[in-house]
Amino acid sequence: MGSIQLKDLRKSFDGLEIIKGVNLEIKDGEFMVFVGPSGCGKSTLLRLIAGLEEVTSGTIISDGRDVTRLQPFDRHMAMVFQSYALYPHMTVRQNIEFALKTIKLPKAEIARKTAEAARILKLEPYLDRKPAALSGGQRQRVAIGRAIVREPSAFLFDEPLSNLDAALRTETRIEIARLHETLSGTIIYVTHDQVEAMTLADRIAVLSDGQLMQCDTPQMLYERPVNRFVAQFIGSPKMNLLPASGEDGKTVMLAGGSKAITVEGGYMGRVAELGLRSEHLRLGNAADAPLTGTVSHVEYLGADASIFVTLTSGETLNLRGIGRELPEVGSEVGLLFEPSDIHLFDADGLALREYA
Ligand SMILES: Nc1ncnc2c1ncn2[C@@H]1O[C@H](COP(=O)(O)OP(=O)(O)OP(=O)(O)O)[C@@H](O)[C@H]1O
Ligand SMILES: [Mg+2]
Repeated sequence: MGSIQLKDLRKSFDGLEIIKGVNLEIKDGEFMVFVGPSGCGKSTLLRLIAGLEEVTSGTIISDGRDVTRLQPFDRHMAMVFQSYALYPHMTVRQNIEFALKTIKLPKAEIARKTAEAARILKLEPYLDRKPAALSGGQRQRVAIGRAIVREPSAFLFDEPLSNLDAALRTETRIEIARLHETLSGTIIYVTHDQVEAMTLADRIAVLSDGQLMQCDTPQMLYERPVNRFVAQFIGSPKMNLLPASGEDGKTVMLAGGSKAITVEGGYMGRVAELGLRSEHLRLGNAADAPLTGTVSHVEYLGADASIFVTLTSGETLNLRGIGRELPEVGSEVGLLFEPSDIHLFDADGLALREYA
């Protein structure tokens, strides 16, 4: 109960295509996160699934049933928005019960479901309060409570935590993870918070300009991005990219006349860019390093530090340093890395590496 399939889903507004043919299978009980830059179509895609927008073409299957043309209520999905949209004149209890009353469930059943939701969400002490007398996190839990009592086949969340402060975000994030374990329901969750996406998702769907770039586990997206967009979108700081070219089937040269770096693979002729994550770069002796440059800026973060090195060829790379071993700004350094940590991209930005 709760699988969702999207088949060549398209949506245009005023003739302008916003969702450009998305194919995706969300498994029963899966925690799926949609990420992507602002305006890429995350909310639109979620609203299409919920039935709040009409599709231009394509099909939505929920539990094997074609729901593409069904009204939102008949899809058995519950949406939780960024703004909680609680009824201000109703108590927490009345807010949670509301949807159940409209479908005229027996009173005892309504009371049982409401009590159960309040228990799961730790809302029992607040049932007789009005929303104005609740904190942001408590209001968000009431909004989730309203969704839970309907026992939907899927929960759809659109940036539910973005109105909360940092501490409350972390707390509510952990609650949502726990909730998923308790309810074992399907969740589709839109966010542009990296940490939320990485920590909550079974799989993340990365969207760009209305198209699905890659859908996989957080580890796979981080370790094996299929293109430079995913490589730079997943991970903070962004993956470092350098112009490069391949030679003689075995080695890759960085622009700017660095030493050749040996990488195995039969695709070297197509190499246009090389990617390295900040934690895979180490400071070393300039004499024997493949890359050399000058420390241009250091950001101290306590345990870690962000070190910026401007290469002789002009590009600036970010590497993760240790808070207690800060290099001096202006010092000449070499950058060391393992060839196995290199990502390679062709001129179209497609990943070339045959990942081990
Ligand atoms: N009702 C509408 N009419 C016309 N254009 C719309 C409508 N709704 C959304 N759009 C456009 O569709 C595109 C995608 O919007 P959407 O809200 O899905 O983006 P998003 O990925 O959720 O962005 P954000 O991260 O900022 O919330 C935007 O360019 C937006 O202007
Ligand atoms: Mg949005």
